[in-house]
Amino acid sequence: MEKEITRKDFLTSSSKYAVGAVVGVIGLDALAGGKILAGEKGTTWPLPWVTLDPDEVRVKAHWLYWNDKDCCAGTFGGISEILKLKQPDPWSNIPMEIMLYGRGGGNGWGTLCGCINGGAAMISLVTDKASSGNLINELWGWYSQEYLPTTTANDFAVQGKYSVHKYDNKLVPSISGSPLCHASVSQWCVVAGKKVGDTERKERCARVTGDCAAKTVQLLNAFFAKTFAPTFVTPNDNKACQGCHGSTAMYNVMTQMSCSPCHSDPHHETTTSIQTSNETPSEYNLSQNYPNPFNPSTNIRFSIPNTEKVHLAVYDIQGSLVKTLIDHDSYNSGTYQTIWNGMNEQGQKVSSGIYFARLQTGARIQTIKMNLVK
Ligand code: HEC
Ligand code: HEC
Repeated sequence: MEKEITRKDFLTSSSKYAVGAVVGVIGLDALAGGKILAGEKGTTWPLPWVTLDPDEVRVKAHWLYWNDKDCCAGTFGGISEILKLKQPDPWSNIPMEIMLYGRGGGNGWGTLCGCINGGAAMISLVTDKASSGNLINELWGWYSQEYLPTTTANDFAVQGKYSVHKYDNKLVPSISGSPLCHASVSQWCVVAGKKVGDTERKERCARVTGDCAAKTVQLLNAFFAKTFAPTFVTPNDNKACQGCHGSTAMYNVMTQMSCSPCHSDPHHETTTSIQTSNETPSEYNLSQNYPNPFNPSTNIRFSIPNTEKVHLAVYDIQGSLVKTLIDHDSYNSGTYQTIWNGMNEQGQKVSSGIYFARLQTGARIQTIKMNLVK
């Protein structure tokens, strides 16, 4: 009877065939001194990482962008093609083309930027799940908040360091505020006065491909050198909205993105307050608002042990009324959360500075100091 073929045997023998086929063409000596190629050692996830030069990767990724791999496979391949030279097993068996779907924010759909999609795929291949989460937050947070293309990317072009020369002048940098390809590309087009089809726009994305590949390498090098220190913090406006929509209360929203670009003015903003717990609190309390300092909005939380008429309002440093949030409404005992969106009664954004939230419950008055920053 024939021996049962396990999946591992199958993978091993098929890669032997692959090696055989290549040997036929280029000869055994060329194969890393006759050593067996990828997959033979049965390498398992997470795959091995080797310290790389971010600038070498940057140039490779830029080249791949212009050579039919586009942004997502360009970022991934910019790294994997260099890894392959240093660590053929298993990297020569991992085709960058798996990432082609990510181009243009996912086959041209403008969702997640392909560059950070490709970078995240590489991170996920070489680190365990918990670590990849932190590294991806760092990469995507950086992308959302950084001027792109970076100064380094522009300098490489001006100094002729790339190997493709479609356009070598400095390009206008812009901040997307978002991990979305659509937001990033469209904002850049508006800022730069260019069209999506222009060479400059393509070169802009080629440079961003290099930027994201280089950033991914820097993060991974640091991670494996045990010097990676996370700096990503959830955007303030996300925290303010998640105060109610996140896991501690309503829990009907899941995202690390800023909410404001898409929901600039949800109609409830200053009128809704939600009960965050139905346990009866032991005392009256007005908690420090969060986030603080804040921009554009902040959460104000208070507890009442008895049913009360509640008045909550925001005043400026001169003591003038800015906005009434709760106007003598009756509240049952409980803990509540409300939001101040940094606007006055007329719906205008107020200037940065110190404001006071004053809570009146029956005869009690409590005040907190809040800092609106620009
Ligand atoms: C104080 C609690 C609270 C905070 C903070 C809060 N929400 Fe809401 N949100 C609610 C509640 C309750 C509803 C459902 C009822 C309603 O529409 O008032 C809601 C509904 C919504 C809806 C759907 C309907 C609508 O009003 O447009 C959107 C969108 C929304 N919120 C976005 C946001 C965003 C963005 C922020 C941050 C700027 C935010 N929310 C902050 C409590 C809150
Ligand atoms: C990239 C754009 C985008 C971002 C960022 C975003 N949303 Fe949304 N959100 C949408 C879209 C699109 C819908 C579905 C269409 C709609 O109902 O408005 C939606 C729906 C919602 C709904 C349900 C709306 C309803 O009609 O009941 C809530 C609540 C909501 N978002 C809250 C948030 C909060 C809170 C944040 C930030 C923590 C956030 N969103 C970030 C685009 C976005």
